[in-house]
Amino acid sequence: MAFFKRKKPSPPPETLDPSRLPRHIGIIMDGNGRWAQKRGLPRTAGHAAGAETFRTIAYHCRDLGIPYLTVYAFSTENWKRPMEEVSAIMGLLRKYLLEALEKMERDGFRIVFFGDLTPVPPELRELCLETQAAGAAVEGVRHQINVCFNYGGRDELLRAARAWAADCQAGRCLPEALDEETFSRYLDSRGLPDPDLVIRPSGELRLSNFLTWQSAYAELYFTDVLWPDFSPAVLDQALLDYQHRARRFGGI
Ligand code: IPE
Ligand code: IPE
Ligand code: MG
Repeated sequence: MAFFKRKKPSPPPETLDPSRLPRHIGIIMDGNGRWAQKRGLPRTAGHAAGAETFRTIAYHCRDLGIPYLTVYAFSTENWKRPMEEVSAIMGLLRKYLLEALEKMERDGFRIVFFGDLTPVPPELRELCLETQAAGAAVEGVRHQINVCFNYGGRDELLRAARAWAADCQAGRCLPEALDEETFSRYLDSRGLPDPDLVIRPSGELRLSNFLTWQSAYAELYFTDVLWPDFSPAVLDQALLDYQHRARRFGGI
């Protein structure tokens, strides 16, 4: 007769299968403002906290061996915000880039910009281009971070269409020869694999103009966690979820 009940052993925690990780993750870093408001802080404090989260998550992706991370930092629509908030976001980008310039080589990553940097204040634009050029020269890079800044998926498509039309006009290509492969070479993401997984924190269930062309077959993961609270554990949860998805790409 059993006097005590043996506790059923709980199943071992699920672990990530390193052979089935996405090659490219996109993240819409959303929820900074609400995170700050919940704490009675100015929205800019949320952006500062979000920038810290970005650092942590970028290193976590690198350590997992994920070659490409694309983050949405500032959209073509975000200019509608109060000037102080826009300036604070620009200031945080500047701070991060100065730091990245120091660390890229040591930490084995590079930064590439997606988006139209033309309306960005000249000094910051120069710093963006300098960081991108310095990153291109780093050898043995294992991790590329694409920062979407003044980025919109529709704007990217328009810029690509204009560049392609100009090439047609100049006799460098023919309209009837245009195919997906050719067109994708005009996009900011030229040469990169499409994102396998797009993550949006903060509870919003939309893409807000993020990687419109490239996300056609991305797996989507939404969580209520606000970006400043996003952690490596939340990313791992998204990756576990991703590993259970059946990706068919229209096949069976
Ligand atoms: C995302 O956080 C950062 C940017 C859009 C620059 P938000 O600032 O949109 O935060 P919420 O959505 O207002 O909480
Ligand atoms: C998307 O977030 C843009 C970035 C995270 C940079 P938004 O907060 O701007 O998106 P909406 O307005 O909620 O769609
Ligand atoms: Mg938002």
